[in-house]
Amino acid sequence: MTQAKICFIGAGNMPRSIISGLISNGYPAELVHATNPSAGKLDALKADFGIQVSHDNIVAAQAADVIVLSVKPQLMQMVCEQMSHLDLSSKLMITIAAGIPASRYQDYFKQPIKLVRTMPNTPTQIGAGMTGLFADESISAANKQICETLMQSGGKTVWVKQEDELNQVIALAGSSPAYFFLFIESMIQHGVKTGLDEVTARELAQQAALGAAQMVVQNPQLSLEELRTNVTSKGGTTAQAVETFEQGNLRGLADQAMTNCKKRAEEMAKTF
Ligand SMILES: NC(=O)c1ccc[n+]([C@@H]2O[C@H](COP(=O)([O-])OP(=O)(O)OC[C@H]3O[C@@H](n4cnc5c(N)ncnc54)[C@H](OP(=O)(O)O)[C@@H]3O)[C@@H](O)[C@H]2O)c1
Repeated sequence: MTQAKICFIGAGNMPRSIISGLISNGYPAELVHATNPSAGKLDALKADFGIQVSHDNIVAAQAADVIVLSVKPQLMQMVCEQMSHLDLSSKLMITIAAGIPASRYQDYFKQPIKLVRTMPNTPTQIGAGMTGLFADESISAANKQICETLMQSGGKTVWVKQEDELNQVIALAGSSPAYFFLFIESMIQHGVKTGLDEVTARELAQQAALGAAQMVVQNPQLSLEELRTNVTSKGGTTAQAVETFEQGNLRGLADQAMTNCKKRAEEMAKTF
């Protein structure tokens, strides 16, 4: 990435994950700034990564080339309006907030802005994130590259062509770590119910989940169906379990859950 001055407005969990990745990838700490009302998270960021920190959004935004808007969605309008008297024409804005349509930011800032909307997920915290990105045609290739490199500090990225596809990103990647947590939780509950201690049950289930995910990633030439049938002998134990999931319509349930997830994202977008 070109050595842009990056400022994070809001220093919560998600910016911390991105900053951690940036610095460990060798980005100069003196070019990274984070602002936050309370001191604790700023002190920790300064101590852990040596970045600049302050309580003043306006001064920090004024000095930055790239502004990452990272407050909660319900605070976004107020935070943007406070900056609306600045000339933002030369700056790249990146938002990580869920739900707020790109067009709304122009209203908040009361001026045309260059904005990329991103949708990260929580595994970004451990460098295994998946972030969806959307930019309209006014955003230059160089600015798209800056945003991509920034978000790749926390994992992988994928560009979507239409903004509403970010709602599919939410269903497939933003919310989906919780689906897997629920599935693993259910497996652990069964292990404990049938007599294993919780630590052992968790170790077994989490390692199986990790191994299965790695097999998917490391075998792009194999379909999911092939991976599944390769470990499912006819009449065997796995076949018995898989058949039970199919009879219980796991696929239909996943489809319904993700439809509802996407619907909720669409509803939330209307509230901003
Ligand atoms: N965490 C995720 O997995 C995830 C995933 C996708 C998208 N996002 C989005 O990322 C954004 C941040 O999420 P998060 O998890 O990092 O939330 P968070 O941990 O609650 O952080 C929000 C931060 O904003 C600060 N803040 C409040 N008012 C501010 C102001 N006026 N100026 C500057 N900072 C202010 C808060 O400071 P105080 O603590 O002092 O109030 C807090 O540190 C949200 O919009 C969320 O939708 C998060």
